Amino acid sequence: MKKFPALVILEFSAIYHAFGLNHEGSGTIYPNSSNEVEHEETYYTPELDYKYPNWCQTLKLHNGHMTCSSPRGGNYRNSLGTRCTLACNRGYKLLGRTSVQCMNNRRWSGTAYCRMVRCHVLPHIQHGTYSCSKSFSVYSRCDYSCFQGYQIERDRYRICQEGGSWSGAEPTCTDYDPPKLKCPLSRVKFAEPGKLTATVSWDRPTATDTADTSLQILRNGPESGSEFSEGLYVIRYKVYDQARNMATCKFTVQVEVRRCPVLKAPLHGYMSCSSDGNNYGASCEYHCDAGYERSGISTRICLFNRSWSDEAPECIVMQIKTDIQSVGALLDQFYEKRRLLIVSTPSASDQHYKLQSDMLQSAACGLDLRHVTVIELIGFPPREVGRIKEQFLDTEVIDGLRQALQITRSYFNMVLLDELGADRERFINPTTSDELYTYIDEYLLTEEERERLQLNKEHCD
Ligand SMILES: *[C@@H]1O[C@H](CO)[C@@H](O)[C@H](O)[C@H]1NC(C)=O
Ligand SMILES: *[C@@H]1O[C@H](CO)[C@@H](O)[C@H](O)[C@H]1NC(C)=O
Repeated sequence: MKKFPALVILEFSAIYHAFGLNHEGSGTIYPNSSNEVEHEETYYTPELDYKYPNWCQTLKLHNGHMTCSSPRGGNYRNSLGTRCTLACNRGYKLLGRTSVQCMNNRRWSGTAYCRMVRCHVLPHIQHGTYSCSKSFSVYSRCDYSCFQGYQIERDRYRICQEGGSWSGAEPTCTDYDPPKLKCPLSRVKFAEPGKLTATVSWDRPTATDTADTSLQILRNGPESGSEFSEGLYVIRYKVYDQARNMATCKFTVQVEVRRCPVLKAPLHGYMSCSSDGNNYGASCEYHCDAGYERSGISTRICLFNRSWSDEAPECIVMQIKTDIQSVGALLDQFYEKRRLLIVSTPSASDQHYKLQSDMLQSAACGLDLRHVTVIELIGFPPREVGRIKEQFLDTEVIDGLRQALQITRSYFNMVLLDELGADRERFINPTTSDELYTYIDEYLLTEEERERLQLNKEHCD
């Protein structure tokens, strides 16, 4: 055991040099309370007087107490032979002798002191702190608390015990609180006009956590701003905090394609539709078969309210009026509807004409599919004939045609007009149906007409 002389509390406030020397009557001991001694040149050896109450000096033990028993009785606490048992107050530990006796040499037989009991310094804990009532001294209570978002586990406080050890066990601060995650609201979107998809965007959800500030959010499903096709999508988000507490949220994106009722092709006609045929924004164009003409609007559009714009047109048999007086009125009937092949011959017995007539007769179906009407101009006035199949044209109309298109009566020739009435090709020799078809297919038909022709070709076989 280490001794700390500076801390010795047992007080011997004076030293008796004369102690044990044997000089008779040459010294004085003043039996007053302080035990102070006046030093004299001559030394006095006191008798071993058990009656003398202050043979040893007054015993004091700071933060401690003693129980003394004197051979002379209770009032002779410092007399020769007195024995004192020493003990420290609570919170203090006795270092030194537990019992001392007042000896012949006027000293007590040993020393002792009371040292305050201390516990070791408490370590810091993660995500928390503590505060102590009396630092690390005995009976000090240290209360633990956790930082925001953490919960304390095990002992909430520890006490420095008399023995110098802490009660309980060190607590821990644990993050039990899962983060909070809020998803956007579920939504229904309609496909954009003329499309089967919709682009859907939303605000990325934000996460909060009592303990952590930066959190990584994971997504499962398409990302915001993606193009969604028709259907229901569940988008999930997930977030973990550093303690692996998890939060999830989800919402749905539904994409609907608004559709109009499916249109039926007109009788004696067909349709060509854009996009998916009947989705919002799709348009359908009506066409009539050869020999029929459309009455009504050409194009209908599927509206947002799932109904089609306008009324359906009809395909009605094309009525060609021939009892008209002007070439303009005649041509107007074909404008944007039919192509014209005008065959001119000096006489019905012309070899070229006869040959061409035969070929055209067998090509009638193919010409009809290509929307070509044949007009024949035969002979010279006054016996000149103009006809469309069996319908005869007025003389003025024949003249008008010849003038407008500069068609000679002198020899066999043919003029091919497109749907706008423009002069596209001239022939002065009989032409096979194949040659005619090839020319028409290549230069006059629209893409759609070509497709339609492919579908209907076998009609003519
Ligand atoms: C002790 O007694 C002596 C002699 O009577 C005296 O001089 C001295 O002052 C006393 N001391 C105290 C503390 O009373
Ligand atoms: C749809 O909308 C069009 C134009 O806005 C309207 O003319 C038509 O009546 C509506 N149809 C229905 C069924 O509401």
